[in-house]
Amino acid sequence: MDDVKAAAPIYVQGPSVATIIAMSRPTALRPVFQVRLSADYPNKRGVLHDLSFEIGEGEVLGLVGESGSGKSTLALAILGLLDHKGGTVRGEVIFGERHLEGLTSRQMRGIRGKEIGLVLQSAVSALNPVLRIGTQFAEAWKAHQCGEEWRKNVLDIFERVRLPADEEFLRLYPRQLSVGQAQRVLIALATLHRPKLLIADEPTSALDVISKSEVIGLLKQLNCEMKMALLFISHDLELTASLCGRIAILKDGGIVESGPPERIFSQPEHPYTRALIGALQSRVPMRAAGSATHAAASHW
Ligand SMILES: Nc1ncnc2c1ncn2[C@@H]1O[C@H](COP(=O)(O)OP(=O)(O)OP(=O)(O)O)[C@@H](O)[C@H]1O
Ligand SMILES: [Mg+2]
Repeated sequence: MDDVKAAAPIYVQGPSVATIIAMSRPTALRPVFQVRLSADYPNKRGVLHDLSFEIGEGEVLGLVGESGSGKSTLALAILGLLDHKGGTVRGEVIFGERHLEGLTSRQMRGIRGKEIGLVLQSAVSALNPVLRIGTQFAEAWKAHQCGEEWRKNVLDIFERVRLPADEEFLRLYPRQLSVGQAQRVLIALATLHRPKLLIADEPTSALDVISKSEVIGLLKQLNCEMKMALLFISHDLELTASLCGRIAILKDGGIVESGPPERIFSQPEHPYTRALIGALQSRVPMRAAGSATHAAASHW
């Protein structure tokens, strides 16, 4: 991935993105996923510009950015889905040994959902409202595997994500689920084929505090049990720090800084990162045990 390593700096006064990534990536982890992308919409150019990062085998990388910074655009661009929104993509996405940007739509369909799972921002709208939960899992299974053993695999994954592993639950429609259950169903769907990489785009944004921490716990558990790498996309720095071994800060379509959460909180390098941490501290002035920085840092 020499091209990625040689990517031009996007901030002229700081180290290049490639340098930051090289400095912060744990050397013990073999990269399973390498990305360098730019993306445009017809009426908005430079939505992503030379955005580059790597994820190691089984690593959890958090991507944090404010609304409109390009997080969902990135998730769709990685999976070759941006043309559905009228967007165009340049650059490269290397998954294992394969260049995904060169694959046909058919080849990408074989990878999406099987080797790379996606959990979308809104669980309720991501599920088909007119199909029973069981039917949606049967279809997701048959998209990539033959045979009738889908039921056993589905009930197994339901147990993992702590959903009722019974026939009655399979007969429900999405409207009969709570938002938290719907999000678990979506995570179960995305991990049904035990992908090597899961991309979760704001999977907790519609959830209350308890459901949020349950989903974070669940993602941690799946990452450990399945050795599945995770790209966790969020606007919430504190929440991301509680899950991820490394955080990349996204601003206006480019990564301005990345590193382990401890370093990001104790020595933020970019003014935008400092502003994010400052906002966090001013949001929780009444917290008894010190600042949000300490609260987030205590998660590790
Ligand atoms: N189909 C589209 N056509 C034109 N511009 C778009 C389109 N979709 C998104 N954009 C613009 O691209 C930018 C990035 O959008 P994106 O949805 O990736 O942001 P985001 O970081 O996911 O935001 P949020 O946190 O609100 O989900 C925004 O300025 C948005 O207005
Ligand atoms: Mg989004």
